[in-house]
Amino acid sequence: MKIKQLIIPFFAILLAITSCTEKTTVAKKDLSSTPETKSDAKMESFLDSLTKIMTLEEKIGQLTLMSTDWEKTGPTINENYKNLIKEGKVGNIFNAYSVKFTRELQQLAVENTRLKIPLLFGYDVIHGHRTIFPISLGESASWDLKAIENAARIAATEASAEGIHWTFAPMVDISRDARWGRVSEGAGEDVYLGSEIAKARVRGFQGDDLFATNTVLACAKHYAAYGAPIAGRDYNTVDMSERELRTTYLPPFKATVDAGVTTFMTAFNDVNGVPASGNKYLLTDILREEWGFEGFVVTDYTSINELVPHGVAKDNKQAAEIAINAGVDMDMQGGVYMDYLKELIADGKVTEHQVTTAARKILTLKYKLGLFSDPYRYCDEIREKQLLMTPEHLEAARDMARKSAVLLKNSKQTLPLSKDKKVALIGPLANDKYNIIGSWTAAGDRYTKPVTVLEGFKEKISNQANLFFTQGCEINSDNISDFQNAINIAKKSDVVVMVMGESEGMSGEAASRTNLDLPGNQKELLKAIKKLGKPIVLVLMNGRPLTLEWEDANMDAILETWYPGTMGGYAIADLIFGDANPSGKLTMTFPRNVGQIPIYYNVKNTGRPYEANGPEQRYRSRYLDVANSPLYPFGYGLSYTTFKYTNFAIDKKTYEFKEKINISVTVTNTGSFKGEEVVQLYMRDLVASVTLPLKELKRFEKVMLEPNESKKITFTLTSDDLAFYTQDMSFKAEAGEFKLFVGTNSEALLETNFTLK
Ligand code: BGC
Repeated sequence: MKIKQLIIPFFAILLAITSCTEKTTVAKKDLSSTPETKSDAKMESFLDSLTKIMTLEEKIGQLTLMSTDWEKTGPTINENYKNLIKEGKVGNIFNAYSVKFTRELQQLAVENTRLKIPLLFGYDVIHGHRTIFPISLGESASWDLKAIENAARIAATEASAEGIHWTFAPMVDISRDARWGRVSEGAGEDVYLGSEIAKARVRGFQGDDLFATNTVLACAKHYAAYGAPIAGRDYNTVDMSERELRTTYLPPFKATVDAGVTTFMTAFNDVNGVPASGNKYLLTDILREEWGFEGFVVTDYTSINELVPHGVAKDNKQAAEIAINAGVDMDMQGGVYMDYLKELIADGKVTEHQVTTAARKILTLKYKLGLFSDPYRYCDEIREKQLLMTPEHLEAARDMARKSAVLLKNSKQTLPLSKDKKVALIGPLANDKYNIIGSWTAAGDRYTKPVTVLEGFKEKISNQANLFFTQGCEINSDNISDFQNAINIAKKSDVVVMVMGESEGMSGEAASRTNLDLPGNQKELLKAIKKLGKPIVLVLMNGRPLTLEWEDANMDAILETWYPGTMGGYAIADLIFGDANPSGKLTMTFPRNVGQIPIYYNVKNTGRPYEANGPEQRYRSRYLDVANSPLYPFGYGLSYTTFKYTNFAIDKKTYEFKEKINISVTVTNTGSFKGEEVVQLYMRDLVASVTLPLKELKRFEKVMLEPNESKKITFTLTSDDLAFYTQDMSFKAEAGEFKLFVGTNSEALLETNFTLK
């Protein structure tokens, strides 16, 4: 097999020499004697030679990405993908994994096409490949950048061991609208935290060497503003000011460019009247010219074709013209570049140079991955056997699931439970393998591998006769046939643990909802159990903030676990029985009701702010029927221990623009459990030339503290951290008064202030 791998590219290069210039000979000598090196000059000379001998059709083939028939998330345009690979019309494939299948497809390209250019294999490896981690929103609640990077590293290791070169992640769409099902795939509502997590994920997927066989290309998606569809309905119109776009929605994308992300994916939506997949302003002016992005841009699925229903192209041909002229390099699944680019060049609407430039960006990354030296270097059965679902990967997933869980309520220290209590475990998600890993689960097994909460509890409870289980109800139905069993087991127990939430398909793509209560008759069952007067712990699995006012008022403890992944049941049991202490903090605000949405912490003051504790105020920015405040604010999450903040200090009262602002605070564990706290630093610019939020997260640090232990936490800000888009849209700080806040969530905060002059 090894010999064959070396010979194939050799033929490709040989072909290059026979048909090309002296420069090609240089490329041949270098590449056939040594595999890819990190020398840019060698790579450029190889790519010069290659692109010179490629026909227009071969170049267009490189701009085309097609799905296999394994999985689809939209209309399939072409079932004939194997023949298209052989004909060189499809240079990239997604929804294929395993050494066997990717090798089989790679062979079709390498053994049948004239230049034997290897295929690039992409896949949605979002929160794990085989070992499934908590959903991305859940991971973000860990506020643990190292753990998030490590989760992406493990996902890349497993995916690349199964032949994958490229993941369609991270999704870096900020969103403040819990109706939008895709909030589950992102890092929540905050621009600073979202940007830090975006960078961590890029580092984790791409590592520091693309040539290494355990790294994959990352893809920042969905560019741009996909998280702000009107009314939270997926794919819907986005209309927002330039200031808001640049302040809130673009920074995480820019952060991925700074972290070296190699690919970008366009969004389905339009932005201020221009669909993202035909948006030159976003794709060329900002992405390439302002930010200097050098990788390639792929569409989201058939979003070029969708320029027709958007109403900006009369047919697919015109759609292809708009997309390539806007800056889209690769057409995912739409087949329109394949069908029309040649004609468009003949018509003078597109130049061959544009096609060559786009193809070269893709070929550059194939080169960097080492595919020209060995197209099968990611198809190694031994690695595939050794690297999937290893004990280390499973342990990391369990740890991440513990870190992601957010303790929303814990009255009278209901949690943790003692292991010798009689426990009734009830709920449609208590023994459910299918849903516990959430949506977008790559090659994750939903049927046998996930550990359920029941399985986790069995390992903890000292006497198995003390553990009772029944499902009680379904996730989304009005069937009450198991209610009585649930009541019966609750009656004979000391405590009831109810595991409830959404099914995995209720969040994710095309899963917007307008009612964010627990679905079906789950709340009815909670009410029935509540009547028994036993302590109730509600364990939630869901992909978005839910409306939980009744639950908050009536349950004794609530633990939000998102979809915690393959090891979820063990992780939840670790937390419930006190072998681990919850430390997650919300990265999206939980509303009191759907009418408050969009709701987020960094709101502006308005000209008529409402003061909740003031006298009756009629003409104020408020609702008549519900408070302005959320049920649980951004950054909120309890622990089994308590933390005290003291000595909040800054080193000066007045700073010049070039000076550093040194901030410190002491955090003490004042309870009796060892625990982690996320120390959060927020800022407010009191008077500026434009209106600014009341609070903006600027820094955070996660610290572990033993009981009675104190730590001094220090943060440093510069005037860059105080910058914003001023009236003339320049990005800079303005002199004036500022407030700083530090604390355990976005509402419970100590304050100080300083002047910038
Ligand atoms: C989704 C993308 C995904 C793509 C490929 C689309 O429907 O919006 O996030 O990467 O499918 O599976």
